[in-house]
Amino acid sequence: MPVVSGSNGGQLASALAAELGSEHHPLDARRFPDSEGYVRVPPESLEAVRSEPVVIVASTFPDSGIVEALLLLEAIQDVRAGDLTNLTGTGPGDLDDVGPGVFLAIPYFGYSRQDKRFQQGEVISAALIARLLARRCDGMAVLDLHAPAVLSDLDVPVAFTSAMPEISEHLKETIAPNFVLSPDKGAIERASEVANRIGCDFSYLEKKRIDAHTIEHTPKDLDVDGSVVAIVDDMISTGGTICKAADALRRQGAAQVHAACTHGLFTGGALSRLDAHVDGVHATDSLPNPRSNVSAAPALARGIRELLDGQ
Ligand code: R5P
Repeated sequence: MPVVSGSNGGQLASALAAELGSEHHPLDARRFPDSEGYVRVPPESLEAVRSEPVVIVASTFPDSGIVEALLLLEAIQDVRAGDLTNLTGTGPGDLDDVGPGVFLAIPYFGYSRQDKRFQQGEVISAALIARLLARRCDGMAVLDLHAPAVLSDLDVPVAFTSAMPEISEHLKETIAPNFVLSPDKGAIERASEVANRIGCDFSYLEKKRIDAHTIEHTPKDLDVDGSVVAIVDDMISTGGTICKAADALRRQGAAQVHAACTHGLFTGGALSRLDAHVDGVHATDSLPNPRSNVSAAPALARGIRELLDGQ
């Protein structure tokens, strides 16, 4: 089962291929001078992607990632359909259609937070992107999606997979927390899973978002005096949510505060802000980032196996 990748995510695709006992095939992916994307299945990979089901690794982030994901899907679909006609007349133009078997592994699903029409006239961006991708694949494995409900009624199966088992293991081995905190209600399920796996206390905060850079937490008494605390979230963007939660924990006597997430976006100076508020930052490599110390490959492999088992 070949695992293919484009201009990003090559390392993760290679690790995923190793988890699945498959080969990694990096496709040709580059940019024209005006920044438009280009994708090609190289001649040496044509047979591999036709002989077995294929896994494409692609994140829908940043925006160029969405276009590249669509180009990768289209390129693989054309080759599997046997549509190889080309202007240079190289090779056979038409081959048999080898049928379905294109799976998309999405380490980070960009636009996931616009999952509802919060105000009149808004686009439900997450649903739009999901529909675009679903038209060209036979199933998707999505890692730690912000709110899975938005992908619930697609025409193809979706495996919602999570890196929380690997994050729990990493935290246990490196910092051995005795308290896990969810910085908002949305992360309760994920953070409480981490607390259960580690076998430590758990609590959560209630968060109100004022704007993209400002949040407020409802004050709450937390029994963290002298504790090593891990704040666990699906993603860290500006770091505002984590820094506010860390301050509240310190005021209540926490000895150490660490931040852990699946998706380390770390936008606009987030890392230096975090460094001033927490003792450590732990993230997966779902996106390339300087704090990645947990592999997302085992979780993606679980998602792909779930799709294959459901076939
Ligand atoms: C939103 O609810 C997410 O789970 C994260 O809490 C949020 O995206 C983090 O954003 P920031 O780091 O900008 O506070």
